[in-house]
Amino acid sequence: MRVIYACTKIRKYKIFINPDITNMFPELLRKNFSNASKIVLITSDKIFNIFKNRIRNILEGCSISNEIILIKDGEQYKNIKSVNDIYKKLSDFNIHRDDVVIAFGGGVIGDLAGFAAATYHRGVKLIQYPTTITGQVDSSIGGKVVINYSNYKNVIGCFYQPHMIIIDPVLLYSLDELQIINGLAEIIKYGIVFDKKILNILDENTEAESKDRLEKLIKKKVFTDIIYRCALIKTKVVRKDEFDYGYRNLLNFGHTIGHCIEKAANLKKVNHGQAVSMGMIIAIDISNKLGLLRREFKNRIIDIYKKLKLPFIIPKLELNNIMDSLEHDKKIKGSRNKFILLKGLNRPVFYYNVEKDIITGSISENMAKN
Ligand SMILES: NC(=O)c1ccc[n+]([C@@H]2O[C@H](COP(=O)([O-])OP(=O)(O)OC[C@H]3O[C@@H](n4cnc5c(N)ncnc54)[C@H](O)[C@@H]3O)[C@@H](O)[C@H]2O)c1
Repeated sequence: MRVIYACTKIRKYKIFINPDITNMFPELLRKNFSNASKIVLITSDKIFNIFKNRIRNILEGCSISNEIILIKDGEQYKNIKSVNDIYKKLSDFNIHRDDVVIAFGGGVIGDLAGFAAATYHRGVKLIQYPTTITGQVDSSIGGKVVINYSNYKNVIGCFYQPHMIIIDPVLLYSLDELQIINGLAEIIKYGIVFDKKILNILDENTEAESKDRLEKLIKKKVFTDIIYRCALIKTKVVRKDEFDYGYRNLLNFGHTIGHCIEKAANLKKVNHGQAVSMGMIIAIDISNKLGLLRREFKNRIIDIYKKLKLPFIIPKLELNNIMDSLEHDKKIKGSRNKFILLKGLNRPVFYYNVEKDIITGSISENMAKN
């Protein structure tokens, strides 16, 4: 079993990573939460249907009083109304500060249940139990618990570190290909910005010719190593800059233009991971145009993208819509724009005031013509 010891200003906690660690959960709960008299597992209706038996086994194995709260599935339910529903149930169940909330699901459930747990009674015990790749390598770690407000994503929230994280790669086996691609985009980001070994491992363990190569990849033993490497990076980044004053921003590589592509495509045709994939290509292209990076670098990354089925061409969209979005991007402070660019593999730099012509040039050159 792999264990990461996360050390934050708010608290120290452990991240357990192991295939089928779910079977050991009751024991981990008893050892680490001996004062709890109740557990509440929060998940979505869709995830509950997939893992019904497993969830029941986990809860019954813990041999303390338990409840399940189901939320409708989807990003649109990561809002204050769902938080209110959760508060009502936590109150009905008479939950106290030593009792445990388990956020069982992808990033949406992690953020939503995490926010409710952080604020109810000014904080109850929280276990993040991520079931997507994004959840396991990114969103469950680091304590950002946020919800959407009106049309604005992630604007209400706080920092609340979990008391434990359980990462079971076996839970990923039911993800469909699009969800796998979504998570692989975040993994590639770690490989490009922090740890090139991740790129080599992905490259060596993905069979280029096999149609279901992504499903095969996530079932390989080595995928647990990849998750571990990414989770360790995230833990270290959070330790350096827990409250996101600067360094933690490196985790947003590819997100500046990625968010704008996602918005310009109206969140429908392009999902988050696909948009970040394209955003990383644009960041590489801009780095190249500014003379920071050699041309061959982009080709090497595109070869890995092809193996992992990540998109590197932006679908035909209105360039003006992407640029308008950039203007409104929260990362733009005053009249300056801020990009995370590269001087080489694992050599990220913050770069301000990239000229508009360079940005539009990169976007147009990497956009489908029809
Ligand atoms: N707090 C943070 O630091 C942070 C970081 C990154 C992303 N996020 C947030 O995370 C969210 C995205 O997370 P996500 O990509 O995990 O998406 P998600 O939580 O929306 O899950 C995607 C879909 O996969 C389904 N699903 C989950 N686990 C499954 C499984 N094992 N098998 C089959 N289907 C499964 C879900 O029900 C959902 O329909 C966004 O809201 C984003 O803002 C937060």
